[in-house]
Amino acid sequence: MSAFIKRLTCFAAITALGANANALEFSDAERAMIAQHGPWPPTLPRDGSNAASENEAAIRLGEMLFFDHALGNDSRLSCASCHDPGLAFSDGRATGQGRRPLARNTPSLLNLKGNRWFGFGGEHDSLWAQSIRPIIAAREMASSATQVSELLRGRDRYRQYYRTAFGATAQAHAPEQVLVNVGKALAAYQETLLSPRSAFDDFRDALLTGDQAASEHYPQGAQRGLKIFIGAGRCNLCHAGPKFSSGEFANTGIPATNADSGRLRGIERLRANPYNLLGKYNDGDAQQNAVKTRQARPSDRDRGAFKIPGLRGVAATSPYMHDGSIATLRDVVRHYATLDAKRLPAGDAGMLRPLNLSETEIDDLVSFLESLGEE
Ligand code: HEC
Ligand code: HEC
Repeated sequence: MSAFIKRLTCFAAITALGANANALEFSDAERAMIAQHGPWPPTLPRDGSNAASENEAAIRLGEMLFFDHALGNDSRLSCASCHDPGLAFSDGRATGQGRRPLARNTPSLLNLKGNRWFGFGGEHDSLWAQSIRPIIAAREMASSATQVSELLRGRDRYRQYYRTAFGATAQAHAPEQVLVNVGKALAAYQETLLSPRSAFDDFRDALLTGDQAASEHYPQGAQRGLKIFIGAGRCNLCHAGPKFSSGEFANTGIPATNADSGRLRGIERLRANPYNLLGKYNDGDAQQNAVKTRQARPSDRDRGAFKIPGLRGVAATSPYMHDGSIATLRDVVRHYATLDAKRLPAGDAGMLRPLNLSETEIDDLVSFLESLGEE
């Protein structure tokens, strides 16, 4: 055999080996869709509405405040009481437990930088406004602008950072301005919280560069689940992009109680909030960054729509959905597999439909979702 033919045979053998081994075949169309779920970590824009976004002193101040029980009235709760760093900044409960029980599940705080809406109903249009809410909400930390400004004026360790971050002392600012700046410092800190890279990211990158050996490390079940996610399941219509969320709202047929109409009430609360981007505390140009807020009008099709959550690290943050009503990832997938089409609003009916997945396909989707977590 000539050397040339030997090389050819050898090449064929390697190709055959690759095809037989772990990696499934992905079409060009599938590759293009998978590419959209990266790269990770992403480059995310700083928040123009928050002059303290990406400011080192503000980040440090926000981190200290996040863990400080003194931020709550009578020192009972800190942000971390509910958003536990050991649980991806959620709490493992179905619904939050403040001074009184809350109606909603406590979401993870990872990957929030660059998002447009905050809260399950999009009650807030900035991370800093969302961060002010629990401080003054009676059911949560039950504090006030006066108490917060006293804390910031009184503690040595806060004085220095506050002045560096905001260019003046807390004494020189009115209590409400101090409260807003505390929200902005908390936001600057939370913007630094990102999910680590996952097995999915390694697979995605290997697939795009044609690194066959590396892509074989990714479990076959997860690869099959990925195909369903971007294919027949059409999960990526809503769980889009590197964060696996379009950042918008949808109705997934989880019964909305009268008490929680989701985005419908969310828009009303957004518009009524004095700290929204149309208000005086927006550090950016409202002509540009408040357009969506100005346009938001409640309409009946928002009833029962909730914010589409990102799915990175989702295996670590059970239970699921805005009300914590689904205990496991398997049950979430089962929910999609057996949707009651009658519960979906007419407009969304084309996006979601019962998937009639087999048990193996459900397992595969779950393996895929698990592969979005820390390796
Ligand atoms: C008593 C528990 C509790 C405390 C204390 C608490 N949170 Fe939350 N947090 C929640 C719950 C529940 C939600 C969901 C609220 C909603 O959708 O209306 C939430 C939502 C959020 C969100 C929105 C995330 C998203 O994906 O849109 C942010 C940001 C946030 N909290 C930050 C904070 C900060 C900062 C503090 C401290 C100042 C804090 N939280 C204190 C329970 C809590
Ligand atoms: C029409 C948009 C849409 C589609 C399509 C969609 N989802 Fe969702 N998904 C949502 C919304 C909205 C929620 C949150 C619902 C709530 O809070 O009540 C959600 C929640 C989830 C959650 C729970 C996350 C958490 O932290 O609570 C998982 C897991 C999930 N979806 C996976 C999937 C999978 C897998 C598919 C495909 C079979 C899919 N989704 C298709 C909109 C969608």
